[in-house]
Amino acid sequence: MPLNASIRDKECLLKNVGVMEFNKQHLRLASYAAEFQELVDKLSAQEPTLQDWKHIDALFARISRFVTEHFRLEEEMMLQHGYPGYESQKKQHDDFVKKLIDVQGDVRGRNIHFTSSFCSELWTWLFHHINVIDFAYRDFFISKGLN
Ligand SMILES: [Fe+2]
Ligand SMILES: [Fe+2]
Repeated sequence: MPLNASIRDKECLLKNVGVMEFNKQHLRLASYAAEFQELVDKLSAQEPTLQDWKHIDALFARISRFVTEHFRLEEEMMLQHGYPGYESQKKQHDDFVKKLIDVQGDVRGRNIHFTSSFCSELWTWLFHHINVIDFAYRDFFISKGLN
């Protein structure tokens, strides 16, 4: 997925994973990533102000909270229906949460250099995870009557 694709294009590239609620959450995650990217683009031209750091703090907290909640809901549904790919999903989710905790250190340390690499990692991770790993549960959940 090209990083310079427009935000709208990126959202359109997300696959339908078969469960409406999860599709909505994926779009919301993409919109947070887009907001993060706008911030990174703005900060590439100027030093962050106190106001920018407040925005980064708030946005990062929002991303972390929403990601954690989304993972919890997906995992709950997988366990409830005995999804065979649960273990690999769980591992990917846990690894990403660890990554967020690492990045939290940079945010707290006011190290602005984390932003652009984190931004591209966030997009890359989201697209791969949603379109490949989550997409793999689509037929399974549909067969359980969920949509
Ligand atoms: Fe997901
Ligand atoms: Fe997932």
